[in-house]
Amino acid sequence: MQILVLNGPNLNFLGIREKQIYGTQTYQDLVTQIEQYCQAEEISVEIVQSNHEGVLVERIQQAYFDKTDGIVINPAAYTHTSIAILDALKAVSLPAVEVHISAVEQREDFRKVSYAGMACEKTIAGKGFAGYLEAIAYLKQKYEK
Ligand code: DQA
Repeated sequence: MQILVLNGPNLNFLGIREKQIYGTQTYQDLVTQIEQYCQAEEISVEIVQSNHEGVLVERIQQAYFDKTDGIVINPAAYTHTSIAILDALKAVSLPAVEVHISAVEQREDFRKVSYAGMACEKTIAGKGFAGYLEAIAYLKQKYEK
């Protein structure tokens, strides 16, 4: 099984940015946790972070050609603005799960809207880094059915 984990803008600043919201662990810590989990579960994983909307769109399109089995996406701020990412997820029509480290529904009103989430089977928010592992586990059990 092959999974793509996509992270949007400013997530490379985990451990530096708003620690009271996103915690003190770094982006590299997140990558390590996902890689270790996937290794144990015998899942092949590619983890990508970009601050650019178009790069995220192109990476979603590439997943179609790579025959990726599922996408875990934290579009970060683009969650609340990007119809392009929503359309890309719809275009490739691959199973996708939306993840947010923070509890977006309990924050500012503008964070309550998720475009990407409209193309995702599931949203996991407010569970920190564990949300990514839960999303991968969901995609795996779906793949194995
Ligand atoms: C986030 C929540 C978004 O609202 C915010 O713009 C982010 C991170 C999260 O993981 O909690 O950058 O997606």
